Amino acid sequence: MAQRGGFSSRLGFVLAAAGSAVGLGNIWKFPFEVGQGGGAAFVAMYVLFCFILAFPVMVTEIAIGRKTQLNAAGAYTALGFKKWRIVGILGIACGTLILSYYNVVAGWAFGYFVEIITGNFDIGNQFGAFTKDVLTVGGYATVFMLTTTFIVSRGVSGGIEKAAKILMPSLIAMILGLVIYAMTLPNAMKGVEFYLVPDFSKINLSVIRSALGQAFFSLSLGMGAIITYGSYVNKNENIVASAAFITLADVGIAFLAGLMLFPFVFSQGLDTNGGPGLIFITLPGVFESLGGNLGVIIGGAFFLLLSFAALTSTISLLEVPVSYVVDEYKIQRKKAVWIIALIIFVIGLPSLMANGYSESLTKFITYVGADSPTDFMTFIGHIANDTFLPLGGILITIFAAYVWKKENLNKELEAGYPNFKGSFAEKYVDLGVRIICPLILSILLIMSVLETFFG
Ligand code: PHE
Repeated sequence: MAQRGGFSSRLGFVLAAAGSAVGLGNIWKFPFEVGQGGGAAFVAMYVLFCFILAFPVMVTEIAIGRKTQLNAAGAYTALGFKKWRIVGILGIACGTLILSYYNVVAGWAFGYFVEIITGNFDIGNQFGAFTKDVLTVGGYATVFMLTTTFIVSRGVSGGIEKAAKILMPSLIAMILGLVIYAMTLPNAMKGVEFYLVPDFSKINLSVIRSALGQAFFSLSLGMGAIITYGSYVNKNENIVASAAFITLADVGIAFLAGLMLFPFVFSQGLDTNGGPGLIFITLPGVFESLGGNLGVIIGGAFFLLLSFAALTSTISLLEVPVSYVVDEYKIQRKKAVWIIALIIFVIGLPSLMANGYSESLTKFITYVGADSPTDFMTFIGHIANDTFLPLGGILITIFAAYVWKKENLNKELEAGYPNFKGSFAEKYVDLGVRIICPLILSILLIMSVLETFFG
């Protein structure tokens, strides 16, 4: 343990894991998925999936990580089930794909910070031209990847913990302030209605699939990031309580981000179905309306905090392949980090070019029944987030319940939670891991994949 490094305080893990969970997924992706998924009905499903389907997976991932103190693949071998390593390797591959495009969007967020502090509020209207300019965005993405790489090369404690302690509360305060401001604007209530009054006729399989993928993506589950962070956790930590806190914080922040955004969208008369550009198109106008310097300060702070939220997520994404290579191949951490980061950056180049620069990547594929094509970056997101993460959730709960066995999982959960046995938490986790996750996740996944590919 000492050699691998660990979190220095009990709060350290919770903050780092919450830092992994809270990111672009909450503030960039969640609102636009809500917009595309028809509003409140999507929100309701997402919240339900987080608590019923994702939470038990989070508990399981932390437990496996802490028990084995190994990376996402090595953990299975250490428990004595070498064949199951493949689940970990699948997760590592999936995380690599996610980071490859996530870093591009993080580059947008950082680029917006620069634009806003130089007073360019018109950047919202120039979103298309901005993402098309691959040299500029590529530059920002490079800065972002270098920062991530530098921090990961120094190990998980220290930086990540300290940063999360200050940045998360600041981000929440900022969003709360903007929610209040949003409510004062004309047409705000139309936005609130869209966001909170569900129209269940809007639910179809592709909406279910996105809500499910979003639940896993937002909570960093299904690919071993939380196994990896769990591997640095102390034996006296209460896993169930930590998982509950992380889930609540993550869902809460996503919820607030939506509550902030939709009044803004409606007050400016924009389209809720704006896709990946939604926050980038909507927010600069809002900051401009605050007036000169105040707009620069609040807008600049917002995009800076968003960049930091993204950073604590990219760190956790990079840590997954890195800890695998360090543990399994005994490669020096510093060396491993730089090589892996370079590979991931290169894998991300098509995503960088898929937002206007390359015609064929921008109009990459047209799904059965869709009326417009989907770009390469979004396509990768669908495969990784909406298919492989839930698949990871299915496999990991089947593994924990039926291969590693429930008693062993429970034993791990009891450490740090003496009253676990016989508690409501035990029944909730038990039902989730043994039945609900494997069964319901499989049904949802199979149906939605069939629909995507066969209409
Ligand atoms: N949960 C992160 C977010 O919401 C993204 C992420 C996914 C991080 C998977 C790690 C693993 O932005």
